[in-house]
Amino acid sequence: MNDLHEKLLETTKYLREQGVEEVDFALILGSGLGELAEEIEHAIIIKYDGIPNFPTSTVAGHAGQLVYGELSGKKVLAMQGRFHFYEGYPMTSVTFPVRVFATLGVESVLVTNAAGGVNVEFTAGDLMLITDHLNFMGTNPLIGPNDEKIGPRFPDMSQAYDAEYMETTRKVATDLNIPLQEGVYMGLTGPTYETPAEIRMARTLGASAVGMSTVPEVIVARHSGMRVLGISCITNLAAGMQSSLNHEEVVETTERVKETFKMLVKEVLKAI
Ligand code: 6GU
Repeated sequence: MNDLHEKLLETTKYLREQGVEEVDFALILGSGLGELAEEIEHAIIIKYDGIPNFPTSTVAGHAGQLVYGELSGKKVLAMQGRFHFYEGYPMTSVTFPVRVFATLGVESVLVTNAAGGVNVEFTAGDLMLITDHLNFMGTNPLIGPNDEKIGPRFPDMSQAYDAEYMETTRKVATDLNIPLQEGVYMGLTGPTYETPAEIRMARTLGASAVGMSTVPEVIVARHSGMRVLGISCITNLAAGMQSSLNHEEVVETTERVKETFKMLVKEVLKAI
C-alpha cells in the first residue's frame, strides 16, 4: 500500500468517525462564497486542523473547515476554504481534499471561485458557468507516479465539465431569472493579478475569466472519475479593463452577489 493511499484511508476513517456518511455532492466553496455552508442542515463541522493529513488554511476570509449535512435534500460535504498553490502548498496538498472525496465514494463535485472577467461583455457581479478550462499553472497535479487503481495515466479531459450538469444549471438559472454567463476559466498561479498584456493573452487564447484555483481540483476530480460542475463569480474585470485591482473589491463583489449565488447552487442541487 502506498503512502498516499494510507493517508487517504487514515483521513477518511477520521471523517467517518466524525459522522460523515453518504455524500451526494462535494462542494468546494471559493473566496467569499463559503457562507453557503451555513445553510447546511444537521451540520457536522470538522475543522481542517483536526483532520489527519489535511493541510491547514492560511488565507483570511477562509473558514478552514468541512461542513457535512443536508442541502436542498442532498447530502453534501462542503469545503469552507480551499488550499491555493500560491500559498506554497504542493499540488498534492492543494488537491488532497479531492482525493479524500473520491475515497469517500463521492461521485460529483461543485467547484466555485472568485474570478476576474476577461470577456469584454462581462461585468463585476456576473456568475459564470465554467464550460472548460486552460491550465496555466505551469504544472499538473498528476505529475508523478500514477496509481492505476485511482485513475488512468493519461486522463481524458475532453469533457472535464459535465454536460448534463451544465444543462441543468442553465435551465435552473433561466427559471430563476438569474443571468448566467458562460465561458472558459484560465487558472494561473497568482498571487499577482495579471498585467494588461497577460489579460490580452488570456483573451486571445480563449479565456473568459482568470483565477488562481479550481484547475488542479478539477484535474484530480476527473482523474478519479468524478463529475464536475464549475461556477465562477466574476468579482471584477481584469487588468486593462478597469483602472486597478484589489482584493477588497473581490470581497465586496462576492458580498453583493452571494445571495444570488446561494440561490442558484441550492436550486441546482435540488434539480440534479
Ligand atoms: Cl483579475 N485575476 C486572478 N488571477 N484571480 C482573480 C482575479 C483576477 N479577480 C478575482 N480573482
